[in-house]
Amino acid sequence: MKNFDIKTRINFGESALDRLEELDKQKILVIADPFVIKSGLIEHITLRLDRSGKDYDIFSDVVPDPPIEKISIGVSALIKSGADAMVAVGGGSAIDSAKAMREVVEKMPEYSGKHICLIAIPTTSGTGSEVTAFSVISDPDHDKKYPLVDDSILPDEAILDVELVKTVPPGITADTGMDVLTHAIEAYVSTENDEFSAALAEKAVEIVGSFLLRSYLDNNDTHARRKMMNASCLAGIAFNHASLGLNHGMAHQLGAKFHIPHGRANAMLLPLVIQYNSDINKHSKSKAEYPNQVRKYATLARILGLQNFNTITTVRALVNWIEFMMKEMDMPLCVSTMNICSREEYFAAIPEMAEAALEDSCTATNPRTPSKEDIMKIYIDLW
Ligand SMILES: NC(=O)c1ccc[n+]([C@@H]2O[C@H](COP(=O)([O-])OP(=O)(O)OC[C@H]3O[C@@H](n4cnc5c(N)ncnc54)[C@H](O)[C@@H]3O)[C@@H](O)[C@H]2O)c1
Ligand SMILES: [Fe+2]
Repeated sequence: MKNFDIKTRINFGESALDRLEELDKQKILVIADPFVIKSGLIEHITLRLDRSGKDYDIFSDVVPDPPIEKISIGVSALIKSGADAMVAVGGGSAIDSAKAMREVVEKMPEYSGKHICLIAIPTTSGTGSEVTAFSVISDPDHDKKYPLVDDSILPDEAILDVELVKTVPPGITADTGMDVLTHAIEAYVSTENDEFSAALAEKAVEIVGSFLLRSYLDNNDTHARRKMMNASCLAGIAFNHASLGLNHGMAHQLGAKFHIPHGRANAMLLPLVIQYNSDINKHSKSKAEYPNQVRKYATLARILGLQNFNTITTVRALVNWIEFMMKEMDMPLCVSTMNICSREEYFAAIPEMAEAALEDSCTATNPRTPSKEDIMKIYIDLW
């Protein structure tokens, strides 16, 4: 038997943030990305909390790819505040921090049976963390990133308000938008995919095809930015149900070891992982039969308007389109052009990254079972 739940209530559309005024909570801890404070975006939150007379504290010791150390500082702040609700406002890093903090505190004996309500408010359109049971935590001492996965991590509510994503600069719009695309594609070809997650993933891919470049080119294109926020959330629900795949398993290691932003690492791997999963590259000839994931990649290509001569050329068109999008958005296609490490450093890290990618929980639902050597080859091709 299978089931499909959406536990998180999603508040979206015009004035969605007004939902904060309706919260029936005594004490709130706001977990905010430092950018949210510095830019004044926090006022969108505090205005509503003040207007409805809420008592709140603000915690903003949040960094990208949140490490264990920052989570434990956050845990102390959460206990000290005595909050019965948390409002996490920021990108995936702020929301994941809040999720991990709550998870630790709720498991303490003195909190037994108490529930701290979590409201997630994304300020990037990428991770879908506002609707997922995932929280990705870094262990910098060991150059590792771990996805914590448990339904208890799911936020109670999400608020999608376009006012908060208007400030996202082009580089972060590109990275996070490609993260949305990777979520949708990986969920769609995952071994756990079914019609329910597929419907959400297809819609997310369609929106990315129409609105990512528009969002990238113009901060003030509110319509495109709202669409990308919705796509991020739809893809989040899709992969929360169907999980992800090798692309994320490998991207986590590039983030942990070389600090490549999450969405950028996913985008750079995506053409290579699609070629690996489909076993289709520029030298391929047509076959009588293809595995399921090949048909699925071809369906997504058609949704993007890339209908082509036959299955091989259609999957090739999808890979070419992804590379085209990356070039249009000035994203690097390989590690060597990024000037982040020497060739020696990168190649020395490959065996360990491949080992960790193989063990990463996302890799388990990849449609093709990779060996360590397969993964090493993809990392080598990425250089
Ligand atoms: N929980 C999940 O389901 C899930 C899924 C995918 C990725 N992740 C994790 O999420 C993290 C990445 O999240 P992200 O891509 O949202 O980036 P992020 O939260 O790390 O933020 C990236 C940068 O964008 C800035 N920023 C955030 N909002 C902004 C705004 N409105 N305007 C301008 N700048 C803004 C931040 O200050 C930061 O410098 C990674 O740790 C990744 O592993 C989690
Ligand atoms: Fe992701």
